[in-house]
This record gives sequence, C-alpha cells and structure tokens, in this order.
Amino acid sequence: MTLTPQFLDELRARTLLSALIGRSMKLTKAGREFKGYCPFHNEKTPSFYVNDDKGFYHCFGCSAHGDAIRFLTEAKGLPFIDAVKELSAAAGLEMPAPDPRAAKQAERQSGLAAANEAAAKWFAEELKGIGGAEARAYLKKRGINDALAQAFGIGFAPDARGKLKSALASFGNETLIEAGLLIEPKDYGSEKEPYDRFRGRLMIPIRDARGRAIAFGGRILDTGEPKYLNSPDTPLFDKGRTLFNLDRAGPASRKANRLIVVEGYMDVIALAKAGVDEVVAPNGTAVTEAQLERMWRLAEVPVLCLDGDKAGQKAAVRAALRALPMVTPGRSLAFVTLPDGKDPDDLIKAGGREAFEAALTGARPLVDLLWQAEVDGASLATPEGRAGLRQRLIDHAKTIADGNVRDQYLGEFRRRFDALFAAPTRQQQGDRPPFRRGMPPARVHRPNSPNAKAIGQSGIDGAFARAIVAGLVRNPELIAEQAEAVAALPIADPMLVRVRDCLVNAAIEQGPLEKLRVAHILNEADLSQAAEALDGANGLAFSFLRGDADPIRARRDLVEAIEVMAARPAIDAALAEATQAFRATTDDHAFAEQQRLTQERARAEQRLMALLQPETDAER
Ligand code: UTP
Ligand code: MN
Repeated sequence: MTLTPQFLDELRARTLLSALIGRSMKLTKAGREFKGYCPFHNEKTPSFYVNDDKGFYHCFGCSAHGDAIRFLTEAKGLPFIDAVKELSAAAGLEMPAPDPRAAKQAERQSGLAAANEAAAKWFAEELKGIGGAEARAYLKKRGINDALAQAFGIGFAPDARGKLKSALASFGNETLIEAGLLIEPKDYGSEKEPYDRFRGRLMIPIRDARGRAIAFGGRILDTGEPKYLNSPDTPLFDKGRTLFNLDRAGPASRKANRLIVVEGYMDVIALAKAGVDEVVAPNGTAVTEAQLERMWRLAEVPVLCLDGDKAGQKAAVRAALRALPMVTPGRSLAFVTLPDGKDPDDLIKAGGREAFEAALTGARPLVDLLWQAEVDGASLATPEGRAGLRQRLIDHAKTIADGNVRDQYLGEFRRRFDALFAAPTRQQQGDRPPFRRGMPPARVHRPNSPNAKAIGQSGIDGAFARAIVAGLVRNPELIAEQAEAVAALPIADPMLVRVRDCLVNAAIEQGPLEKLRVAHILNEADLSQAAEALDGANGLAFSFLRGDADPIRARRDLVEAIEVMAARPAIDAALAEATQAFRATTDDHAFAEQQRLTQERARAEQRLMALLQPETDAER
C-alpha cells in the first residue's frame, strides 16, 4: 500500500488533534490551545500543549513533539500503518488500495519473521534440553540466571548441521535461507545441501521495536573465532538500522528519562541484571545515522559508553562526527569513558550498579569530546599547528545543519581556543599560578611535533626534566631559593641528576649562584660538556630557555615548572594507590578519588604545557 503525502495531509487535516489526544488524557483549554500533563514524561505541572490549528502537540518539559500519527505511534505504541488505519476510520477516509508488490513484500517479511520467531523458540528449548548443558554452564559462569536468560530469550544452537533445518522444515529451505538461518553452499555444481548457520553457539535474539526476533547474535561458548556470528542482513534485518534491546529500552528510557548506548550484547544484559534497562547497543558496527535517529526518539542526549582503549576512543570520535551534522537545539550526545579499559559488564561485575552510575556522572558533552580529540591530536607549539587546530574546529562546527547550534559551536570553540593560547593578563602575572580558569576538562595535551620530538625522544617527563635543568643552568640564582624543590625533581637521566646535584650542593654551600660561577663549578665537576649539550639540544619552547625572553617572565615560568614537576611523584604515588584501591573495591569513593587524582595529574601536565607558548606573548 502506498500512502501518498497528499493522503496523509488530508488525514491530518480531518483529525481534530485535541479530540484525539483528549480521548486518552485530560486536556484543559488554555487560550487558543489545550494543555495537560505530558504523557511522555513525569511532571507535576502541565507543560504539554496541543494546537489544533497547527495540528501538533508540544511538550515544553521534554520536547516531545508531533502530529496525530506521531501521537498514536509514540504515546500508544501503534505501528505506523495501524495508526493511519485508526485515523482513517475515525475521519471517514478510505485507505488507499493495497499495492500488490508491497503486499507481497509484507507477506514475505511476515514469513521471515515467523521463521525467526520459530527459531528463537527452538533455540530456547534446546538450551533447556540435554544438549544444552554446556551452554547452561556457560551462562551460569557469566552470571546470567534463568530469569535473565528468559527476559532476553537466550537460546542455544546445537553443534550440528541439520538440526534446525529439520526442526523448522515446514518453513521450507528457501525461507530459512532468506531468513539467514541456513547457509546455502556457494558452489552450486556440487550437490551440497543447505545447512544450519549457527552451530554450537549461545543464541541471543535481536528484536525489532515491537519485540519480534528478526536476527540473532550467536556467541561461541568459551573461546574461538569469530566470537559472535551474527545473522546476515535480510529483508527483515538491516544491521545498520537496528539497535539491540530497542524493544526493552523504549519503555524503560521513557521512565528513566535517559538512554545509554554500550558496545556489546553482554553489556546490555549485564546492565539489565543490575536493573538498568534503558540500554541499547549497535550490532558490532560503528553507530550509523539511522541508529542515531532511533536513539533520539528515545532520549534527547543518549550517553555513549565506550571502552577507554584506543579503539573505543576512535569509535567515540567517529560517532561524534557522525552525529554533529544532525544535532539540534537540545538534541546531542554525551560520552563516558570507562576506567581501565573495562566494559560495562566488567564494571557491573566488579562494583555493581553504583560503579556504573558513578562512571556515568563523568559523562562529557559532545563539544568537549571533539575539542579534546582535536587538541590532543594537534601540534600546538607552532603557528601552523595552532592554525590547523583552529581550522579543523571551524570545519567541524560548519558541518552542523542547524544554524543556531552551529553558531553556538563556532563561538564555543573560539572561546576555548582563545583561552588555551591567551597570554596571562597583567594581573595574573603578579600572582601565581598564572593559569586560566575555565580551561577544558584537564587531559594531557600531547602535541605531535612542537619540537615535541623532544618529548618523543625522552618521554614527556624526560623532556621537561632536561628543560628545567637547562633552565637552572641559565638562571642559577634561583637554585638556592628553590633548592628543596629542585632536589625533589624526578629525573631519570643519570647525567642530568649529576648536573642537578652538583648545582644544588653548590647553592646550599654558597648561596645564590652567579652564571660565571656556575660555569666554573660545572667545569670542576667535569660536567661542562654535559651542561653544554643540555643547552644546545632542547626542543621545548620555554621562556627560560630563550635568550630574548623577559627575564622576570622566564624566572617565573621556571619556578612554576619546578613546582609542578616536584609535586609530580607525590601525585603519581597517590594515583597509583587510588587506582589500585578502585580495582580492589570498585566503590564510588575509590572511583571518585581516582578520578580526582587523574584530573589533578592532568592539570599539572597542563600547567606545564601552558608554559610552552612564550611566543604568543611576544605577538600580543
Ligand atoms: P565485545 O567483544 O565487546 O563483546 O564486542 P561483548 O558483548 O562484550 O561480549 P563478551 O563479554 O566478550 O562475551 C562488542 C560487540 O561487537 C559485536 C557484537 O555485537 C558484540 O556484542 N561483535 C563482536 C561481533 O559482531 N562479532 C565479533 O566477533 C565480536
Ligand atoms: Mn564483554
């Protein structure tokens, strides 16, 4: 059946929206509109408005918005076609005649759906039978009890080539092949028979929004490749348009007023066990536009939980870039990075729901994720590198279709960019530390090549240690005043340690050192060559390493760098301890403490990195 836009318009025009909605909830007149308690979220004062002239409803609380058809599909959960039928009947409109091709397609689809449903049932029975013992043991090992297995309709495909085929023989091989349940051997010449696709696997049904099994994810018991075998795309199942657990997450997300997106089937199941049902997962692929649209129908800002590893971070950026053109006022994404490369399943197992909820409190908005990803990947020490960063941020913002949101992104990126490279103000120059508030959430900036080759060669700490010792050789009068902190600097390179110790000892014995005196002291200790090498080969653009820098600024920066570096070992030790405590207990407090220290460490690193742009001062 083809429903033309004209037909649908006619239908909307003939439907009095307030009457339709008024049948299922109380509406009161408010000026030219009607208002009532929003059926899409819980509220104490009515913010749901119905406008008959325009033919739509709108909630100022949760932004639910739509027309008559939308109301029936969203609030009543009717399939689209049933909503149209109901409205047509009420409006006295005759439905267009069914189109024979579409009817055939619908029939084929319902045949495939029936086959999948029958397969799901059969797999579930197999799980309970004698042959399912190993699979049951596996479920038990993973903490999936009977109720949970039943809630997800989990089953088992026995390790045989023809058991499903004969159990579902009444559907015929053609349908079973099309449904993805049988594999048809490719070489037609041979007389090979179609055989069961899923063998010796735990079967997890993938359901559509209405709860019909349309595909399966089959997990191998224990180890082997592939870990999951999924149904192929079929007329019923389009992997990129489907979200696992959508049928359960739909109602749950309305109640919880949020939607969580995880990577794996097992993550969804573990969260359900912990009482969190508003969770969906893409089927092992990068999140698609179609999936984003689906998510946004359930929540304005779905929260993506991705692994903390590189792959997870890449996936996060990819999802962010894909979502960006589609964001609107209010409609966005948030991102949670789970600690220690854990997935939600691990986290729940170790620390229960609280650990997961604690991780969620660290969700970062889309704008943060993009900003951080670009800053991390940029080389900030050269004008070209900074210009490149700025250009990429602008380019990203420009992909946003909604003009209003686009302007906001452009403005926000500009403000952050300016804050990152702004010179300290006069006033700040007086008091330390001269660092800006309102910097983006701290994370290490690891520029790619701000003579960050220097960083690459000896590690970030090594490079800073070299720079500081070189700075002390150039500004030796500071050594006496800072002796304690200088002595505490974490330095790995033995030659650097010798230079430092030599200078500190001299300063303690003799008080503030002068430059000429330093040359003599180093010479006597047979360290002049080491000091020279130090002076020549430093790639980092600190003011205290430049001959032309303002000496007050240079000294202030050097003191700052020393302070930050000297505090480093204590932070690192505390962080290691907190990380271990969190691993052991995974309780909220341990997690919060671990996060706090991670941030503190990152802030320290950022303070150092912020010292690295002395040339911007010269520009201003
Ligand atoms: P994971 O490897 O994280 O799976 O892959 P998981 O769900 O946590 O499973 P367990 O805990 O190891 O048992 C994430 C998702 O990627 C898809 C699946 O959808 C899986 O849930 N995937 C993974 C595949 O489709 N095929 C594979 O071989 C692996
Ligand atoms: Mn897992």
